[in-house]
Amino acid sequence: QTGKFTYDPGFLSTAACQSKITYIDGDKGELLYRGYPIEQLATQCDFLETCYLLLNGELPNATQKTEFNGLVTRHTMVNEQMQFFLRGFRRDAHPMAVMTGLVGALSAFYHDSTDINNPQHREISAIRLIAKMPTLVAMAYKYGIGQPYIYPKNDLSYSANFMRMMFATPCEEYVPNDVLTRAIDRIFILHADHEQNASTSTVRLCGSSGTNPFAAIAAGVACLWGPAHGGANEAALNMLEDVQKMGGVEKIGEFIKQVKDKNSNVKLMGFGHRVYKNYDPRAKLMRETCHEVLGALGKTNDPILKLAMELEKIALEDEYFVARKLYPNVDFYSGIVQRAIGIPVSLFTAIFALARTVGWIAQLNEMIGDPEYKIGRPRQLYNGASKRDVVALDKR
Ligand code: SDX
Repeated sequence: QTGKFTYDPGFLSTAACQSKITYIDGDKGELLYRGYPIEQLATQCDFLETCYLLLNGELPNATQKTEFNGLVTRHTMVNEQMQFFLRGFRRDAHPMAVMTGLVGALSAFYHDSTDINNPQHREISAIRLIAKMPTLVAMAYKYGIGQPYIYPKNDLSYSANFMRMMFATPCEEYVPNDVLTRAIDRIFILHADHEQNASTSTVRLCGSSGTNPFAAIAAGVACLWGPAHGGANEAALNMLEDVQKMGGVEKIGEFIKQVKDKNSNVKLMGFGHRVYKNYDPRAKLMRETCHEVLGALGKTNDPILKLAMELEKIALEDEYFVARKLYPNVDFYSGIVQRAIGIPVSLFTAIFALARTVGWIAQLNEMIGDPEYKIGRPRQLYNGASKRDVVALDKR
């Protein structure tokens, strides 16, 4: 029994920690940030309100919102030297390789916010990371396509600023479209935190050594990159495009046969979850956003969307998937939305990292703020060789 939430003893023995930040009920398909249902946050709040909530435990009032937004806005630029760091990469480097480097490199610039055990440093580094991630992701994108960087503008909202840094050029202004900006803001909200997932546990373990916040978040970026985790949105869209090339909806049966064939090692990317054994509530919201965006763009006949919906229909009816409780997760529809907005597939996971940064920070600060915390040190069951003596080289 922890407060109003009860767990069976078996679960408690597997729990890595206690937390007040995010609650997931995998059987009910329920997700709460600080007690608020994700469905309400995603439709009634914006991403920076959600950041304030995750960091402080309460939604901001109007004054607090204005102050927090102003703080974030004033930290959106990055040190000009960061451009030279980017130049060290090949132009075709994967954006997550670039982001892992850039986020870690922030440690080299902000010495007044690197002491993780100093509450003021934690507060400043949180604002800096939240503010600078969109700038860094946009820079990684522009570097990859050989276009000049676009600086943030202080009179734009967080998400509109990101869209402009991504799509404006010195030759042509980009006027953020409300539907697309709201869609990207909702993607940020839906990806903001998710309890003790692999990358969050990585950030907690890394931060428990007392390393600086930027290094700990860089470790989260590296872990999120994996295709079984944050890399799934990129993999899910690549999967849909591959099936489309195979012949699309007409050939879906052949593809499903491959997925069911254990020897094929083909997974339905964007389906299944370590915790949700019911529909991922974020996937439902993402599917609605998908229809809104494609509708606004006049792309409701997008073959990839039709293919995704057919795959989802099969997965929800086919015994193989039903028996394994494989439902669409947050990554299934998010790629289709981002592709419709004009974001390249290779950038999807970097955008996931942008959004998850606030969750990583909130979880890290919760751990560090607990006077009882110690450096993480998981133990193991050793099942290797028994003790033995070295044999001289000429006798081996
Ligand atoms: C995220 O932890 C988080 O909270 C993560 C995340 C977050 O917000 O941080 O929610 C974000 O990472 C979402 C997950 C994104 N990953 C994918 O979409 C990749 C595809 N999914 C799989 O890799 C898989 O579903 C996992 C890794 C997500 C979960 O793997 P599990 O725990 O092994 O799944 P399971 O134990 O429930 O599997 C049961 C069975 C197994 O088959 P059997 O051995 O019983 O025959 O289902 C099979 C699995 O092989 N299976 C799949 C499958 N996922 C599981 N078969 C086909 N396609 C799939 N996607």
